[in-house]
Amino acid sequence: MKAAVVAHKGFTISTIDPRLYGSFIEHLGRAVYTGIYEPTHPTADENGMRRDVIDLVKELNVPIVRYPGGNFVSAYNWEDGVGPKDERPVRLDLAWHTSESNQVGLHEFADWCDSVGTEIMLAVNLGSRGLDEARNFLEYTNHEGGSAWSDKRRANGREKPFDVRLWCLGNEMDGPWQIGHKSADEYGRLAHETAKAMRAFDSRLELVVCGSSNAHMPTYPQWEATVLEHTYNEVDYISLHMYFENRAKDTANYLARSLELDTYIATVAGVIAYVKAKKRSTKDVYISFDEWNVWYHSKERDRAILEGGSGWPEAPPLLEDDYNFEDVLQVGLILNTFINRSDVVKIACLAQLVNVIAPIMTVPGGPAWRQTIFYPYYFASVFGRGTALKLMVDSPNYVARDVGAVPYLDVSAVHDAESGHVTFFIVNRHLTEALDLDVTLIEFGALSVVDDQVMTHPDLTITNTAENPDAVKPVRGEGAAAQEGRLTASIAPLSYRMIRLKA
Ligand code: AHR
Repeated sequence: MKAAVVAHKGFTISTIDPRLYGSFIEHLGRAVYTGIYEPTHPTADENGMRRDVIDLVKELNVPIVRYPGGNFVSAYNWEDGVGPKDERPVRLDLAWHTSESNQVGLHEFADWCDSVGTEIMLAVNLGSRGLDEARNFLEYTNHEGGSAWSDKRRANGREKPFDVRLWCLGNEMDGPWQIGHKSADEYGRLAHETAKAMRAFDSRLELVVCGSSNAHMPTYPQWEATVLEHTYNEVDYISLHMYFENRAKDTANYLARSLELDTYIATVAGVIAYVKAKKRSTKDVYISFDEWNVWYHSKERDRAILEGGSGWPEAPPLLEDDYNFEDVLQVGLILNTFINRSDVVKIACLAQLVNVIAPIMTVPGGPAWRQTIFYPYYFASVFGRGTALKLMVDSPNYVARDVGAVPYLDVSAVHDAESGHVTFFIVNRHLTEALDLDVTLIEFGALSVVDDQVMTHPDLTITNTAENPDAVKPVRGEGAAAQEGRLTASIAPLSYRMIRLKA
């Protein structure tokens, strides 16, 4: 089976915002406690943070991490997480039916971000709280000093402001499950006024307003139109979320879902354009896809805790999806979609980073390891920086149950003009047949293959575990050749592949 691609150096989609490869840490399950923070762990640093986890996060070169939620933020008092640790209150977290010790808050998280070399994307609580807390939180976080809240921060040991530039105005406010759920008009008004107040403090902040929690919400996409009509001039991004599942055990259909993601992005881009035109605005609003991942493996297991059957446990295992090889392909497809829509998607956050639907897992007191999905995220984040190329793709199709015609070949490409690298991220959706890939390369000069990494496995259900952490990992690809303006390679069935060329 053959597939052809044309890549031209001058035909581009957009410069990729590095924040396309962001992630997310929520006070949920073991993401924070026994995830990033475990003072008694043998590798703990002076702040009680696990060094083994820090090293793995560093490997991923994560540019930004969203914090502290998620559903958690909608009943969170940020003040509970600052000041002397032994005076911090234990609170009941209503979103995840657990107890929150508040031993980690803004200061500890910001220090951790410094350790891993990432920026913070903070969310304010627009569920149980509102404008007043948001402006106080911002003053505490970003003001130099000489005001009540900024002086509290200094008294709490942080002289210099945290200088957080990117703020989310609440989380999934369209969801009936959200504490303080609102109608689009209620939320739009509140988000507008909160954004106005935050901009009055600092007009250069970047603000993210909540879009739909997924494309199946009954209010989608009218929600986006109404919310943007209230907020268009005050915000920079609208957030979208999407989680993928394969409960039906239908691989062909599962791997077609990224086409739905593409339609979701295109629809919201259309709504943005509609509101922009209606407002006669010259300003652009982009998409912050600040929650995405595969999430279904753990759902049955979590039910008892979420329904309150375990009382109010502290940091219980929740949303601990064990990712399999099939999920490698899905994550590769999602990242390809973001790269190919990097004209409108500027920020995206893999939800989440440690233990909770995460590429990194830990055992309390024990090891940390890379889940299967660590790798496609790693390849995109580390090698997918530069300019996304607008590829012409000719691939044979199949018909998926819920989606219709789907190309077997899925591909994105990034050109780093500075280093001269052209990197292709490739997924073959075919269940049994290899694809003979033929890429025509125009205007790049002579290119040669400098790296070739492939992921494939005969068992789609295989996972990496603490005992066997390397069951699934990339190996060096074979047979890719670049000569006379052509790249050729045989792409194995159900495989993920990264091929890097250099001038
Ligand atoms: O990431 C897990 C949860 O999924 C988040 O808390 C929420 O925003 C979404 O529903």
